[in-house]
Amino acid sequence: MNIHRVKSLRHTFPNEGHPDDKTRYIVTSAQPITADEAMACFNQWAKSHVMYVSSREEVLIDYEAWLPEKEVPQSLKEILFVDEHERQIWQMTSAERATLFFLLSQINPQCSIEIGSSNGGSLAVLSQFSQIVYSLDIDPTCKTRLGPRFSNVEFITGDSRATLVPLLHRLQTENSTLEFVLIDGDHTAEGIKHDIENVLQFKPNQPVYILMHDSFNPEVRAGIQSANWQDCLYVHWVELDLVPGILLNRMPFHRQMWGGFAFALLRPVVRRGKLELSANQAPLQQAAIKQSAQNPPGSVA
Ligand SMILES: C[S@@+](CC[C@H](N)C(=O)[O-])C[C@H]1O[C@@H](n2cnc3c(N)ncnc32)[C@H](O)[C@@H]1O
Repeated sequence: MNIHRVKSLRHTFPNEGHPDDKTRYIVTSAQPITADEAMACFNQWAKSHVMYVSSREEVLIDYEAWLPEKEVPQSLKEILFVDEHERQIWQMTSAERATLFFLLSQINPQCSIEIGSSNGGSLAVLSQFSQIVYSLDIDPTCKTRLGPRFSNVEFITGDSRATLVPLLHRLQTENSTLEFVLIDGDHTAEGIKHDIENVLQFKPNQPVYILMHDSFNPEVRAGIQSANWQDCLYVHWVELDLVPGILLNRMPFHRQMWGGFAFALLRPVVRRGKLELSANQAPLQQAAIKQSAQNPPGSVA
């Protein structure tokens, strides 16, 4: 096996031109490559649990079994320069990963909450810098897949509309110092609005930093904007574009707007005056909408 012959490895998403619903990895080599060599290369690269090789150049893997093997990241360098394996785990851009890493390394939260953990990319950073993390995900496999990697994470399975409020009541009763919340779960406008308004029920005893992922996406952004921020007197700052998002050019997200971090700060003192929601990249977001497949026909001139 000669891995130097492999030029690239890319993965396709379910239903992207394939009849089955498996995530499929394609090995591209400079010269013809046998199925065994392709599988060996793939094994070397991903330490994966290979199910079978479907053709000479395509390798089908057990995606779920493969993911939990990566160690928790330790340094900003590891966060920034991720390899192809980690690109599957993370669902954030390098700017978002760096921001998350920097914020958490500065805050060192006693207690954090993540809504939406998926494959554990952002959870690894939360776990690294927090004393305790509560991971809320509707996917019951999060606990079994990710649990063994994180000793300071409590996994709570279910729809965050049902699980978040009881958790916040519990933290409030225990006088826990909640300091960080990452909202990255239900990406419908209603879903994120609910998550935000539920978080705002928490009365802070320390500053609480709230990041909301995918604020560049028009639907998510609408949900963030429609949340009732005004009524929570502990909110002191809301910025929709702490980190701007991206207009994707690859399938299956071609011409879709994703990413971006909105940010909110709760402080344990009452705000005086009206809260203004800031959106420092609004012109960029509007320009992207015009190029986007998410642009409803006729909605933007
Ligand atoms: C985009 S992924 C999260 C990615 C993760 N934060 C990262 O960057 O590594 C969204 C996750 O939210 C979860 N999710 C979707 N709707 C949810 C809901 N209503 N309640 C809880 N989790 C939900 C999904 O199961 C999925 O794991």
